[in-house]
Amino acid sequence: KKIAVFASGNGSNFQAIVDAKKESGLDAEICLVVSDKKDAFVLRRADSAGIETFCFTPKEYKSKEDFETVILTKLRDHEVEFIVLAGYMRLIGPTLLHEFPGRIINIHPSLLPAFPGRDAIGQAFAAKVKITGVTVHFVDEGMDTGPIIAQQSVPVLEGDTRQTLQQRIQGKEHELYPLVLKELLQKNHNIHVEG
Ligand code: GRF
Repeated sequence: KKIAVFASGNGSNFQAIVDAKKESGLDAEICLVVSDKKDAFVLRRADSAGIETFCFTPKEYKSKEDFETVILTKLRDHEVEFIVLAGYMRLIGPTLLHEFPGRIINIHPSLLPAFPGRDAIGQAFAAKVKITGVTVHFVDEGMDTGPIIAQQSVPVLEGDTRQTLQQRIQGKEHELYPLVLKELLQKNHNIHVEG
C-alpha cells in the first residue's frame, strides 16, 4: 500500500514506521512526507531515508482548501492510498477527508476521549491520572474524535516527571503505530492489539 506521512515536528513516529518497514515487514511504501513547517526535523529524517518531501507554509495560502488542493495533487501524483498523521498539528479539511474516506489515520498520546488536543501528555500529568496511554484512530473533521482503531495503556509511575512520562508514552507509540498500520494495510479490519 502506498502511504503519505504528514508531520509537523520531530518525526519519531515517522522514523518508527520507516524502521518497521525494514525490521518487522511492514508492507507500506512511504511515497511522500508532507509538512507544514519548513524547519521540521521530520524533513531531515525523510531526506536520510530517501523519501520525497513536500513542505508548505500555510500563511502563504488564502485558505485550508487552497493548500489542501495542492497537497491533493501531490498525493494523486504518487497514487497515495492512505494518509498517516504523525504529529501533524492541523485539522484535516473536507478537501482531503472527501478524497480519503476512512483512509486517514492519526495517533494521539492519550486514551481518547480523555485529553484530546494539544499537549495530551501534559494534560494527563497535570490531572494526576494513574493510567494514560496511546490511541490510534480514523480521522474525521473533529479534533481527535474519529473512530478508535486501537489503544494501549501506559501507567503513570510514582516519581514520574512530565519528561519520563513522555518517554514511556512515545515508546509505546513507536510500538503501536507500525503494528496497527501493518494490520490495517493488510485489510484486516478486526484489529486487536493486546494491551
Ligand atoms: C506524538 O506524540 C503523537 O502522538 C502526536 O504528536 C507527537 C508527534 O511526535 N500526535 P513525533 O513528531 O512523531 O516525534
